[in-house]
Amino acid sequence: MIERTVVLIKPDGMQKYIVGEIISRFEKAGLKLVGLKMIMLTEDILKVWYAHHADKPFFPQLVQDMMATPVVAMVLEGEGAIQKVFDICGPTDPAEAAPGTIRKDFGESKPKNVVHRSDSAEAAAKEVGLLFRSEEILI
Ligand code: CMP
Repeated sequence: MIERTVVLIKPDGMQKYIVGEIISRFEKAGLKLVGLKMIMLTEDILKVWYAHHADKPFFPQLVQDMMATPVVAMVLEGEGAIQKVFDICGPTDPAEAAPGTIRKDFGESKPKNVVHRSDSAEAAAKEVGLLFRSEEILI
């Protein structure tokens, strides 16, 4: 199934100057960029984005970390895009990620895991809607 999914290059990833490297990994896997922008996230957006983590002890720090610098947000499209992006990024904890994944290669810890990726088709639809207007998706 052709799917869309969202990736954010988080502030810790932005500070490592690896934006091109990260986008290149997705493109080499045959995923197509259909949306791309650099933005400053706000508390209002993050409260909705991470609503499912609102009761976690790390939530306040997570919101602060995500506003430390601008982030790059992208929408990727392709066959099985959600699973492909999951595999390219690796799991939340870089320590558990396989070599060659973005989080293993560049991540330091759960809070500093370089990228966010949509967990599911439902999450992807919500995240696209939060960050992109329909005319910003170019196919
Ligand atoms: P992300 O995929 O953006 O989704 C939620 C984020 O919370 C996760 O990546 C981590 O960066 C962050 N986080 C911070 N601390 C923790 C923690 N202890 N457990 C899980 N996620 C954490």
